[in-house]
Formats: sequence, structure tokens, C-alpha cells
Amino acid sequence: MSLAENGATGVPAATKRARPVIAIDGPAGAGKSTMAAHLARRFGFLNLETGAMYRALALKAIEHDLGFEDEGELLELAGRTRIALRPQLEGNLVFLDEVDVSRRVRDGDVTSAASRVSVHPRLREWMVEQQRKMGAGGGVVMEGRDIGTVVFPDAEVKIFLDAAPEVRGSRRYRQGGLLAQPEVTEEGVVKELKERDARDRNRAESPLRPADDAVVLDSTGMSLDEVLAAAEAVVLEHLRAD
Ligand code: DC
Repeated sequence: MSLAENGATGVPAATKRARPVIAIDGPAGAGKSTMAAHLARRFGFLNLETGAMYRALALKAIEHDLGFEDEGELLELAGRTRIALRPQLEGNLVFLDEVDVSRRVRDGDVTSAASRVSVHPRLREWMVEQQRKMGAGGGVVMEGRDIGTVVFPDAEVKIFLDAAPEVRGSRRYRQGGLLAQPEVTEEGVVKELKERDARDRNRAESPLRPADDAVVLDSTGMSLDEVLAAAEAVVLEHLRAD
């Protein structure tokens, strides 16, 4: 279809983006960030990690000694918070009220808090509104839990990346620099990951699930190279068809 008009009716297709939105969703530890960074580099798109936004707000809640259960309190906090993602070749820098918190938001306490903060429906709406603005022009790889289902249900390419929890936990344990921390065990990492999974999949608002039109990749028995090649093939198929 041409960019200027809808081939079937000749009506200007105002919503057609010049460049695609690539939505990558899936559970924690599936390898979404690696895939998103790879696709962004390969196709020259911006890479936006939406989880970092939930992490940044969770960090501010920690800093203000707020609990994570009171949605009204969290929303009020969000209203006086500026969160910015600055895409780099490898992942995003995250700024909370102009301060670079890219490292801090990866700590365990923030990871756990982000999972709790992200269950609140109105807070999610606040996030989704910003994410839609960030991706509106297309040419982005947007990674999260609800990109293909809620943020951009009209995304041109949707990939849902999954893997067995034990495999995700084990990869995270081995690759996350956790081997050097004797108090962290592989079993503990898997247990924490399953708890986050349960919250992501069972929350009332936008639970984690593949969009009906998503390509589901299960990386349980696949090497990293195979996963990246499969994702690249999905994007190429769209670009060739367009
Ligand atoms: O992808 P991540 O681990 O950085 O995400 C942090 C938390 O935010 C995670 O618990 C799930 C949640 N999240 C979400 O609910 N929706 C998104 N689009 C992205 C992340």
C-alpha cells in the first residue's frame, strides 16, 4: 500500500506511519532487551525500553518512602515526575527528573518495586500515554509487556518472546554478574522471576499475553544467534511486503 493513500478506497490513510513500530513483549528474562537492541541497530530504529519507565517511577517511590499499594499516591507522584529514555546502541539511559538513574534502576529493590507499581491501572494509562507519544512517528523498537496489545495494537511487527522460567532464571543468573554475589542463588533468581511472572500475567489491567497477531518465539531450546536471526526474519518479511 502506498504511504499516501489506502489502496482499497483512495482515502488518505492518515494513520499510516512512514516507518514501522516493532513491538517486543514477553516475560522477564526472555532476552527482549538483547533482541530489541539488535533489531534497532540492524534496521536503524530507536530502541525504547518501557520497563525502565516503571523502574524509574518505582525508584522515586522508594526515595519518597511511599508504599507501592496506594495508586492515588503513586499517581500524584507521577504527576510531578519527568521520566526520559535516551536510546543508546546498547539499551537506554534513564533519566528521572533530569538525573541519570540508569544503573540504580537495575538494582534488586527497584526491580521488585517496579513489578508492584506496574499493576495499577491508572498509572499504566499514564505510562501508555507517554509511550504512544514516544513511538508515534514509527521507526522504533519498543520493548515491554503490553506494547503489542495496548500501547500499539496497530504495530506493524509484533514479536512475543518467551522461554521456560528455569531457562530465563538460569540465563539471568549466569549473565547478570550475579555469580560474584554469594548471597544470590540460581534458585532464588528463578523464584523471584516466577513471582514477577505471576504478577505480570495475572494483573487485572493489561496482563502479559501475546497479541493475537504476534509472532511467538520460544527461545527455550534456541541459541542467541538463532533467536536474533528469527526476529530479523520477521522484520524483513514485513519490510519486503510493505
Ligand atoms: O522489562 P523490565 O524488567 O525492565 O520491567 C520492569 C517492570 O515493569 C516489570 O515488573 C514489568 C513492568 N512492565 C510493565 O508492566 N509493562 C511494560 N510495558 C514494561 C514493563
